[in-house]
This record gives sequence, C-alpha cells and structure tokens, in this order.
Amino acid sequence: MNDLMGKHIVLGLSGGIACYKSAELCRALIKEGATVQVVMTEAAEHFITPVTMQALSGRSVYGSQWDAREPNNMPHINLSREADAILVAPCSADFMAKLLHGGADELLSLMCLARPIDRVPLLLAPAMNREMWAHPATQRNMAQLQQDGAAILGVGSGDQACGETGDGRMLEPEQLLEDLVAFFQPKLLAGKRVLVTAGPTFEAIDPVRGITNLSSGKMGFAIARAAREAGAQVTLVAGPVALATPRGVDRINVRSALQMLAACEAQAPRADIFVATAAVADWRAADASEQKIKKDGSGLVPQLRFTENPDILHTLAQGERARNGALFCVGFAAESHDLLANAQAKRARKGVPLLVGNIGPATFGLDDNQLLLVDAQGSRELPRASKQVLGRQLIAEIARRLGRHE
Ligand code: CTP
Repeated sequence: MNDLMGKHIVLGLSGGIACYKSAELCRALIKEGATVQVVMTEAAEHFITPVTMQALSGRSVYGSQWDAREPNNMPHINLSREADAILVAPCSADFMAKLLHGGADELLSLMCLARPIDRVPLLLAPAMNREMWAHPATQRNMAQLQQDGAAILGVGSGDQACGETGDGRMLEPEQLLEDLVAFFQPKLLAGKRVLVTAGPTFEAIDPVRGITNLSSGKMGFAIARAAREAGAQVTLVAGPVALATPRGVDRINVRSALQMLAACEAQAPRADIFVATAAVADWRAADASEQKIKKDGSGLVPQLRFTENPDILHTLAQGERARNGALFCVGFAAESHDLLANAQAKRARKGVPLLVGNIGPATFGLDDNQLLLVDAQGSRELPRASKQVLGRQLIAEIARRLGRHE
C-alpha cells in the first residue's frame, strides 16, 4: 500500500538499544511511500551507525547542528520546515526530559523545539527499562509533553534487553507504522463508538466438525481499522480468522452465530454505528452431537438436520436505538449476480439505511474489492481498490451521513 505517499517524515533516533528496530521502521516508512530524513543524536550512534540509516533512507543522515552541508548552516530550521511529521523512535527517557524543558544543545532536540508547532506534529515512541518507564519523573514528563502537543505512541510490554520483563519496550516497527498512518487520517468519527462483525461463523456438527464458509474477514478488519483511524472507539466481533487485530481495536472472538449475536447485543447499547460484514452461517445443526459422530461400518450416512440462525443485523436494526436513529446500521451483501437489484432488496429486507454490496466470489480472501453503496436515494460505486482504502471510503461515507465532514 501507499498510505504515506507524499509524506516527508523526519525520523529522529535518540540513544537506546531499540535503535536496532529503527532500521526496519525506516524501511517500512519508505515502503509505504514516505520519504525519510534521519536525524540521530550522538547517543544513538553508539547503538546503530549513520551508514546503516543512510543506506536504508537513501539520504545522508544529520547528527550535528554545526553541519555545514546546509547553505545557511541551519539544519534545525530547514529539516523541520520540510517535514510533515517528526517521529522520534526510539525516544529515550533522557530525551523526553530534554524535550520537556525545551533543551536544545544538539540537533535533534533543537529541531524539535524549532519546529512550527501548529504545522509539524511531533510523535514520540518511548523506549526504556521498565523501572525508568514507571518512574514518576517519566510519567510526569510524558503527561506534560502531551499537554505541550506531542503525541505519545505508547510502549510494548515483554522481555527487555536488560533481562527484565515489563512495560517500556519500543513498539514494533509495523505497530509504529500503523500508528503513524492512523495519525494522518481525518478524525471523522472522534467520540463515536463503532461495532463491527467480521469473518465467517463456525457451526459445530460435533466436537471435531462443523459448517463454515470462505469469508476471510479482511473487509471487516479493514473497516474496523479505518474506524479506529478516524478516531472512533471500535469493538470488532470476529468469527474464527487468523488475522492480526488492528491497533487500538477491542476484539471479541466468537465461533458461532449465536455467540456473535450475544456479543453484539451486549455491545449494541453503547454503539453509535454498527457495520455487519460477517458472513454469518444461515443455518446451524439442529442437534449438534456432544461426541464425535463415528462411522459404524454399515455404509449409512448420518442424517443432519439444520435450523435457521438468528439474523444479527436485522435484530440490531429492529432495536429501539436503531429505530430512533441512535444506532446507524450498515449491512453487507455478498452476491454472485444482479448486485444492484439484490442489494436494494436486501437493504429493504434488513431494514438498514445503508447496504454495501459486493460480488462474493470475486473478492473472497483477496486484498482488494469493489463496493456498491445502496441507500434510499440510490446507489454509488466505489471502484476496485484495496480493502483498506475501501474501508476508509466507507467510513467517510458513514461519517457524512452522520453529518461529519472533513
Ligand atoms: N447477517 C447477519 N446475520 C445473519 C445473516 C446475515 O447479521 N444471520 C448480515 C451480514 O453480516 C450482512 C447482511 O446480513 O451484513 C447480509 O447477509 P447475507 O448473508 O448476504 O444475507 P442473507 O440474509 O443471508 O440473504 P441471502 O442468503 O438471500 O443472500
């Protein structure tokens, strides 16, 4: 994807063992379409060489405020004016303390202080030992830095280079990338709660068998991520899929349609928007066996009986909050033919203001799709694009219908 196309990122490295992850981060930013200018403190150069960062970024690295390469000899001004964002990763405890006080005795802190504060956001990815992280001084500094307008990207938890275990690890490069991409998205759903269903359901026949379908869950996960990027608080009710949970999204794993319904009914009273992308199995075994059904050698096959599953979307769309406009419901339709007619009919049947049609067999398992939005006014096509791009477009459409514009 090219989620950072056209963005120029100044990647600052302060001293910490997490500098080894910054090499991967630099590559990831460039792969996503950004240009990257690396600025390193002297301490960072003890952990990783400027040669490595130059080779990966394709630009010579800056490390000194006395760098004569700049015609005006003011790298702190020039570099910060070019940037769409400054990301300091890793940001050491010492570097945070320095930023807090407006210290400016080397290039990276000088550049952060000199940046146009309204135009060039500063994002910090802290990295330190767990005791340093938990120390009141660090926590106090962070709170103040946030008040001063910096975005703190949080930390990971786990084994630390020092041998201890706890909070304070720098986030992984792909997590930082996801956070940075999200940072640039318009906050169209700030303050809203979004509930999304995704993936197939699995209906047990016995403890080892069941019926399910080919839904990959990718479209629903992309919508959950897009909603989160737009500033919403997102709960994703996921059927059995092996996809990674988008950053910042609360995930509830379920297996069957009945479990999915229960999870959705529990969440719906707090939700403002419900997007049903799950391919819920229409039927489940009427009497699932508690024990594995065995062949008995007679050649006779078991006679399975099915019963219909509840319609989760229809149930929530008929609820009081949906009917009085407090819960905006969006359905999906995976069709094989006559998309517009089927989608229009399904929208009416489900009782939802917006239904999103797609051709199931043309998209199952793929990373891209093509959508048809159907509402009371008519229909609109979202042409083929990655599911993530389509997810963002759909979220923007939903926001528009709720009166929120960019
Ligand atoms: N859906 C649901 N619960 C079900 C079945 C479907 O919430 N038990 C939701 C899906 O998540 C989707 C929409 O309803 O948003 C349409 O699902 P689909 O399976 O295409 O519709 P059906 O009602 O099963 O219609 P048909 O089988 O005729 O295509």
